[in-house]
Amino acid sequence: MSERFQAVQTVQKIMEEKVFFNTLKEAETSAFINMLVLTVLRRMVGLEEILSRFVKLKFKKSEQILKYLLLCGAAEILYLDTPDYAAVSEYVALTKKACGKFASGMVNAVLRKIATQKPKSDKVFPASFQKILEEDYTPEQIKKMEIAALSEAPLDLSVKEDPTLWAEKLNATMFESKTLRLKTQGRIESLPGFQEGTWWVQDLASALPITLLGDVKNKKVLDLCAAPGGKTAQLLSAGAEVLALDINPERMTRLEQNIRRLHLEKNLTTRVSDGLQFLKQTTDIFDIIVLDAPCSATGTFRRHPEVMHFKTLEDVNAQIPLQQNLLSAAAKHVAKGGILLYCTCSLSKKEGEQQIEHFLAQNPTFHLHTFSKDNFLTFSTVQKLEKNIFDNQVLRTLPYDMAKLGGMDGFFAAYLKKD
Ligand SMILES: C[S@@+](CC[C@H](N)C(=O)[O-])C[C@H]1O[C@@H](n2cnc3c(N)ncnc32)[C@H](O)[C@@H]1O
Repeated sequence: MSERFQAVQTVQKIMEEKVFFNTLKEAETSAFINMLVLTVLRRMVGLEEILSRFVKLKFKKSEQILKYLLLCGAAEILYLDTPDYAAVSEYVALTKKACGKFASGMVNAVLRKIATQKPKSDKVFPASFQKILEEDYTPEQIKKMEIAALSEAPLDLSVKEDPTLWAEKLNATMFESKTLRLKTQGRIESLPGFQEGTWWVQDLASALPITLLGDVKNKKVLDLCAAPGGKTAQLLSAGAEVLALDINPERMTRLEQNIRRLHLEKNLTTRVSDGLQFLKQTTDIFDIIVLDAPCSATGTFRRHPEVMHFKTLEDVNAQIPLQQNLLSAAAKHVAKGGILLYCTCSLSKKEGEQQIEHFLAQNPTFHLHTFSKDNFLTFSTVQKLEKNIFDNQVLRTLPYDMAKLGGMDGFFAAYLKKD
């Protein structure tokens, strides 16, 4: 089967079955398929708008593939390097094979018009995703997020030690928070340091909450929603004793594999359990509890453009009670003077700032702790983060922060200190 047709079928599967691309990707997925699928997912709303100027995008159930052939064809013509004539003839041939001569005539006519007119659309977010953002952000902020949604997210790594050495080896930009950002996206497994377990993939934004915690050496930490283990790895490499818990056995297996590859298993205990059940049963007290809560994940749309298509306000609202319950159950197990670190990769303030306001109103023994950048690297070659990421009492990053350097995920974190 041609790579193009594989890409077409993959987009169809993602959209119709609401599955994430990374769960379908095989180790040998080619760079071309990767690029085409991600381009269509990022540009889908605009592409649909453009195509609907030339054709009704409603097809019989058995011919739904036509919509995806048109989307991929238009994406190649408008956004990838394929010469127009090649794109048109490839998609016409694929359509003829999949749906017959009549359909291929339609695809030919539509793609030729697109190739000649090179139409544009500035639409990016589906209406349902836009609705989530409108609750908290201005039209200008949303516009900037749309721009961020169109470009490829860089590859960010967290390193166990020697970030300067590894920045050099990997030809990466080093941020003051120790994240290394790579210019080129190669196969992760073949990059230097992967086999030895020197680093793991972790977006700059999602690495910040633990980095900011500072010295966690010998601290007793409960990582309550731990899998696949990015934050667990940070805690372990900084010398903490970690109990990592997650409700999902498959994700926990991935955490264990990740931590073994990094040779960080020494101070780790794992447990598959519902966090609420565990907190009800245990009498243990922890210096730090990390609650990287299940959330709508709306902040990750640069890396996972599917999020824009799948998530609705209902999904955001559905997460709130569990987040609240986990927060208040965790509060009972934090030592005096200890920290409850709450974070989410959601852009919705209902899952972030408002959760914390609610928590503080219910839990007067806790107050917001202001974190500082003291634990950051300070030498001259490191890339500084924008100040506005930190200047509230909570951490809030947006997908267009650091835009010139490739942006970062939308993330929220609050450090709740127990008196
Ligand atoms: C945002 S992810 C955690 C990411 C992880 N901390 C990291 O840095 O790699 C949220 C995790 O919460 C887990 N989860 C969801 N509900 C849970 C519950 N009731 N108890 C424990 N874990 C839960 C999910 O399986 C998922 O792995």
